[in-house]
Amino acid sequence: MNEVATATPETTPQADSTAKPAKATVCVMGLGYIGLPTASILATRGFDVTGVDVRPDVVDTINQGRIHIEEPDLDILVRSAVGSGQLKAAHEPVAADIFIICVPTPITEDHRPDLSYVEQASKTIKPLVRAGNLIVLESTSPPQTTQNVVVPLAVPDDLTVGEDVFVAHCPERVLPGRILLEAVQNDRVIGGMTPACAERARAFYEEFVAGEIFTTSATAAEVTKLVENSYRDVNIGFANELSMLADRLDVDPLEIIQLANRHPRVNILTPGPGVGGHCISVDPWFLVHAAPDLTPLIRMAREVNDRKPHFLVEHIKKLASQFNSPVIGCLGLAYKADVDDLRESPSLEITRDLIAAGHRVMACDPYVPAERFNEFPLHRLEEVVAQSQILVLLTDHRQFKNVPRRVLEEKVVVDTRGIWRR
Ligand SMILES: NC(=O)c1ccc[n+]([C@@H]2O[C@H](COP(=O)([O-])OP(=O)(O)OC[C@H]3O[C@@H](n4cnc5c(N)ncnc54)[C@H](O)[C@@H]3O)[C@@H](O)[C@H]2O)c1
Repeated sequence: MNEVATATPETTPQADSTAKPAKATVCVMGLGYIGLPTASILATRGFDVTGVDVRPDVVDTINQGRIHIEEPDLDILVRSAVGSGQLKAAHEPVAADIFIICVPTPITEDHRPDLSYVEQASKTIKPLVRAGNLIVLESTSPPQTTQNVVVPLAVPDDLTVGEDVFVAHCPERVLPGRILLEAVQNDRVIGGMTPACAERARAFYEEFVAGEIFTTSATAAEVTKLVENSYRDVNIGFANELSMLADRLDVDPLEIIQLANRHPRVNILTPGPGVGGHCISVDPWFLVHAAPDLTPLIRMAREVNDRKPHFLVEHIKKLASQFNSPVIGCLGLAYKADVDDLRESPSLEITRDLIAAGHRVMACDPYVPAERFNEFPLHRLEEVVAQSQILVLLTDHRQFKNVPRRVLEEKVVVDTRGIWRR
């Protein structure tokens, strides 16, 4: 493993020849699901880390050694990192050897990339950037963001990229719920603005990443990350389109998929209620925006996946019309199993739409605490199961897997994930 040995004069004490070289100082911009785990992993590896967030409540919580997001074991890591003095949270960035940008990269209502957070974070660090520094963009970003946004906004005019200062993109591939493990274990793609930038960033990541590291250009790294998520979206889109087609043709989509997957070179995914979360349902739009004329398939997969919740709402409404004001039980609001994340969740969208259409809905999500959710009432699983005529399985939380078969047989069931069938 390489020691990062290019610290700035301001932040590195003169080393005597017998002492171990001092670890670099790191300034992490954005302390959310990516920034906070990264900052605390680095802190526990001996880096002197300042984590920066624009939200005062986030800064205060972290400085008390506590966390504001749900992620297994992160509380222990942050407590230890803050307790040892290696991690401090702040409202403003400080001079450092390495700057890592982990701010949000959402899309606008009309699916255009919103780079305002990256722009703001880049501008804020610019007065602190010195010769010898490394700047890494970790946020998932549209092609050429490192080159066209980070370099012009974060690098002082008198410094040359690749000679005086080093700029790279290193996208994150972690899975929520396994972030601490995957941030260290996963292979990484590092894209440098120049080969020297990539090598400088590699030397830094080798300090804490156990997975293999591949270097390339910054734009290739940006596109690689977006291609990964678009690949997932297109494949899920195929399964979702198939499920709607099967409904029209009056065949069972899961049976069709099971049978087709017996072909040695076919592996169709399981359909669901749509695609949620803030990665797969967002990132493909960055590619579409970059070249609309060349990405009809990626755009269409997004549209198919976005259409699936509406398809299901219409299907459920049709079933409900056979009853007199039935109770519809909606099981699950989170976008995927066993997490509390409601961002872009099709399960939440379906429940909302049924309520908005005037149906009597009882909703349940064991991971969403009622005190943190006030849009509509939440109920216990037993109550929902007992009182609904139509039971809609939206998120495959493990608590829902054991609803007794004889209970399901008494209801009209819409199992959007196929867990009761399996
Ligand atoms: N969460 C994931 O699982 C995941 C996985 C892979 C990639 N990513 C990508 O990583 C990036 C960050 O995602 P996240 O989930 O950590 O977001 P997040 O919303 O959890 O955290 C971002 C933090 O940045 C802060 N912030 C905003 N502007 C700032 C600024 N100018 N200076 C300092 N702090 C600022 C926000 O207050 C927030 O606390 C995004 O591009 C996302 O697409 C996320």
